[in-house]
Amino acid sequence: MPAMKVNNVHTRTLVPAPEARAVDIIDQTALPHEYRVLRLTTLEDAAHAIRSMQVRGAPLIGVTAAYGLALALQQNPDDATLASAVATLATTRPTAVNLHWALAHMQARLLPLDPGERADAAWQEAGAIAEEDAAQCRRIGEHGKALLRPLAEKRGHLNIMTHCNAGWLATVDFGTALAPVYAAFDSGIDVHVWVSETRPRNQGLLTAWELMQHGVPHTLFADNAAGWLLERKGANAIDAVIVGADRIAANGDVANKVGTYLKALAAHEAVVPFLVAAPRSTIDFDCASGMEIPIEERSGDELRVVRGLTGEVDSSGQPGSPGSLRQLPPDEQVANPAFDITPARFVTAIITERGSAPATAEGLRKLYPEDRHA
Ligand code: MRU
Repeated sequence: MPAMKVNNVHTRTLVPAPEARAVDIIDQTALPHEYRVLRLTTLEDAAHAIRSMQVRGAPLIGVTAAYGLALALQQNPDDATLASAVATLATTRPTAVNLHWALAHMQARLLPLDPGERADAAWQEAGAIAEEDAAQCRRIGEHGKALLRPLAEKRGHLNIMTHCNAGWLATVDFGTALAPVYAAFDSGIDVHVWVSETRPRNQGLLTAWELMQHGVPHTLFADNAAGWLLERKGANAIDAVIVGADRIAANGDVANKVGTYLKALAAHEAVVPFLVAAPRSTIDFDCASGMEIPIEERSGDELRVVRGLTGEVDSSGQPGSPGSLRQLPPDEQVANPAFDITPARFVTAIITERGSAPATAEGLRKLYPEDRHA
């Protein structure tokens, strides 16, 4: 599978520049209206990028946190700096376990070293995590394609529904839920992706943008249309739903972007396969069930204020400029849980870099026999 591209140029979501003691990221808060690269040079930059969702998606959050430690340690490599940098990054976003996985991994590697060796080792280790993420996502794509191929052969084409953005923007390269789509598309399968808008932050627009960059046919729909679309039969019938995950509990329960659960319920009712694609770093074997997964509550302003291009297209064809529109007063009470839990019984299979398995404790144990299981 060829790597992902922006305007036909191979691009990753995060590019280290160790000689400049910096990391370049794609600012995802500006997409899809503007493609902007930001340079992170400090721990605070990295923490802010994660918190404000300039970078987002569970695997990319983990990789950014790893580089955040490298940025902190190049300023001061002592034990106290390492501990406080880990603590700062750990509180940025609570649900995606990849963050904690990456921090624990980095800490285990760096703490035993002489402080003088830590900064270089941190750059190297963060780079290794990033490369591993890309390689795992590529393999998720191949395993997912193997699941999709028989459906495509039966139907002559594939209609895939997805939610949020679990494409390459949410990882280093290739994506998780979208990796099988890219692999299928690149191998000549006639695939069309149905993209849920994903209120309130509209990550579906990021999915539409990256599918457009790759040339994959797609249609964006309002979240509320998912149930109806899943009920459709005939040529337009959805063949499978594929989503990513922020954390998978040891029993197969899945935390993912809020709205995932409703799609799983509707897919179950419509007898449409519901697939979850994620690497090992998303599985939390210390978490017995979804009920233990912390759900991030984000600012109510994400509902009160809508972002986009303001104004009309002008006479020269230029769109309006990026801006926001208040749709509710600041004191209007809103609830904004960013994730929900889909019980394992609604998940047809989990696709990982090692292959696919039923969403059960036994299925996960077979994939990762070497891990300590809850
Ligand atoms: O709040 P976000 O945009 O970081 O949430 C992203 C998701 O929910 C993704 O589906 C998940 O992180 C998997 S990304 C490969």
